[in-house]
Parts: sequence; C-alpha cells; structure tokens
Amino acid sequence: MVNSLNPAKPVEKPLLATIDGKQQKRPPIWIMRQAGRYLPEYKQVRAKSKNFIDFCYSPDLATEATLQPIRRFGFDAAILFSDILVVPDALGQSVSFVENEGPRLPPLLIENNLSELRGTIDLDRLSPVFETIARVKEALPVETTFLGFCGAPWTVASYMIAGKGTPEQAPIRLVAYRHPEFLERLIQRLVESSITYLCQQISAGVDAVQIFESFAGALTADGIEQWSIKPIREIIDGVRKMYPQAKFIVFGRGSGANHIKYARDTGANVVAIDWSVDPTWAAQTLQPLKPVQGNLDPLAVVAGGDQLDRRVDGILEAFSKGPHIFNLGHGIVPETPLDHVERLVKRVRG
Ligand code: CP3
Repeated sequence: MVNSLNPAKPVEKPLLATIDGKQQKRPPIWIMRQAGRYLPEYKQVRAKSKNFIDFCYSPDLATEATLQPIRRFGFDAAILFSDILVVPDALGQSVSFVENEGPRLPPLLIENNLSELRGTIDLDRLSPVFETIARVKEALPVETTFLGFCGAPWTVASYMIAGKGTPEQAPIRLVAYRHPEFLERLIQRLVESSITYLCQQISAGVDAVQIFESFAGALTADGIEQWSIKPIREIIDGVRKMYPQAKFIVFGRGSGANHIKYARDTGANVVAIDWSVDPTWAAQTLQPLKPVQGNLDPLAVVAGGDQLDRRVDGILEAFSKGPHIFNLGHGIVPETPLDHVERLVKRVRG
C-alpha cells in the first residue's frame, strides 16, 4: 500500500494497525450499525428498495450506504453494508424482512435433516455483495480500514431454526438438547459456508472481518465451547488456510466473563465486548490477551450531554494502557441524534 502523493511513504490505517496490536495515540473509532436509520441520507437511499434483502444485493445502494457514515463522520473503519442473513439466503433458505418486525425465513424442519439447504453457498447469489466490496474499496480514503463480516454459526442458526428473532433464543436452545446431531450438522454447514463467504470477501478487498455472535448470552457454560467458540475457531482456521494473514474481530455479545474465551480460544486478533462489561475488568483481564473493541452503551449516545462525556472518558481512561478500538457495545439505535454522534467522535479524538 502506497501513498499516491508520496509513494515512498507507506500509508498507515490506524484501525488496522490497532487490530495488529499497535496502540495508537488516540484509539480509532467506528460504530456498529453505523450505516442505518439514524442517518437521514440512509433513509433516503433505503426508500429506493422495498425489500431490505434486495437493498443488500444492490451494489449501487449498498456501496452508497457503506460510504455515508464515512463521509459524515470520518470513522476509521467502513463496514460492508449487508446482513448476516445473506448466508442462509445463499444456502437456499430465502430470507425476507417484514417492516417493523424483522427477518422472516421458512423455519428448518428437524425431520428434513437439512434437505431444504444447498450443500454449499451459492456464490452467484452473493456476487452483488462482492461487487459492493470492490466498489467501496475503490472509493474509500486510504487511511480507512474496510471491514467485512459474517454472523457466527450459533446466531445465524438461531434464525434458521426459528425462522425469526426469538426471545432468549428458546427454539435453538431446545434443539441443542433434543437434537444435538441435527444442530451439529447445521453448524458444520454454516462453518463451511462462512469460510467460503469470508474468503470471497477478503479476495474482493476487505482488510479484516468481524464475526458477530449476537446470541452468545443465550449459551450455557458447556454450550458456549461446543456451539460458539469451536465453530468460530474452525472458521478462523479455515480462512487462514487460504489467507494466513487474515484478521478477525470476534464479538460474543452478552457472554460476560466468557469474553475471555473469545479472546483466548478462537484465534481472533481483537475481542469486542458489549456494554454490560466493566471496562476496568476488561482492561485487566482481556487487554493483556488481545486488543479490545468497545464498549459504550448505545443509549448513552441517545442521552448525550454529561452522561455521554463521562462514559466516553471512563472507557478511554480504562483502556489507555493498551491497544483499543473505540466502539459501542452494540448497534447504534435509530433514535440517536446526529449531534450526539459528532460529540462522541470529537471527544474520542480529543
Ligand atoms: O453495521 C453496519 O452498519 C453494517 C451492516 C449490518 C446490518 N446488519 C444492516 C442492517 C450488519 C453488520 C448487520 C448484522 C446483523 N444483522 C446482526 C448482528 C449484529 C447485531 O445487531 O447483533 C443481526 C442479528 C442481524 C439480523 C437483522 N438484520 C435483524 C434482526 C434486523 C431487523 C432489526 C432492525 O434493526 O430492523 C436486520 C435488519 C437490518 N440490518 C437493518 C440494517 C441497517 C435495518 C433494516 C432497514 O434499514 O430497513
């Protein structure tokens, strides 16, 4: 990578350097769900596509959505605009999004033993996503890190089994007890699909990827190893067979002290933590293992004012002795005022 104005000088991407364990003067910042409904310009492009999944498969619209938060706030990373549910969609379990309700899929039936699914993901179906990556890569400032992503198998399987979001993920937890062989087969299919999908994302141009285990908090102490840590480790190992330098951020939302397992046992470069985790504990326990990403409560950004400032300062201070990527502890919510986001970015940058 070279700077076009000064070819002799290599360009540093501060966020990518942090993923590599190099602490920066100020922590780089991006925000989960940074492209989304809190942005008026997002709502405008979003209105051009009725079905959200079609929006994800439109390179023009998805490229624009990816770049919007970079233009407005100059975040240190852009995250590909897509969704974790394109993977089941590309396995033949068609996904739609019902307005104000969320995703809907025809639930997998145990007795069908995965016969509804393809053996491998349909890369043709996903080709618009790779096209989006190529276009974003062309348009991004050189200092901006480009992140791809996928959902972790347990989180994606939860939607595939229930056909929608479910309180405390009861349907998949019951399947784990009653039909563990079935769940094992499904998780394996997702491990293989995720390896293929992430390798294609890297080949198309992303610098690093985040794996979202949004439902880590629903797992028991023994379940977390079997259904989350092990499959994530298999994905990371599988991708690194193709791309030995591939870099991963792993986010086990709601996993409490088990965030240690995500840091230590998955092969991730960075451990992302949710807003329930005490930053002082995380700095002592996780940061010596891996750079940490997080973990401001998204609602502190909605509230703004002194609350926001104090919490931002507390997080900056707690993680000041090692590599840290500033982020929220989960996705930004649609009601967030734009001036609060500006205030946050300014404060993090000093
Ligand atoms: O972070 C980003 O800006 C990149 C894009 C991104 C989206 N979804 C866009 C999106 C990413 C990384 C995701 C991940 C995702 N999707 C997760 C894991 C992260 C998390 O939040 O825990 C999950 C569980 C999903 C599944 C999903 N997608 C749900 C449950 C919903 C509906 C809920 C909602 O907020 O409406 C979505 C839709 C979705 N994905 C939207 C966006 C911007 C909103 C849809 C719209 O604009 O109409």
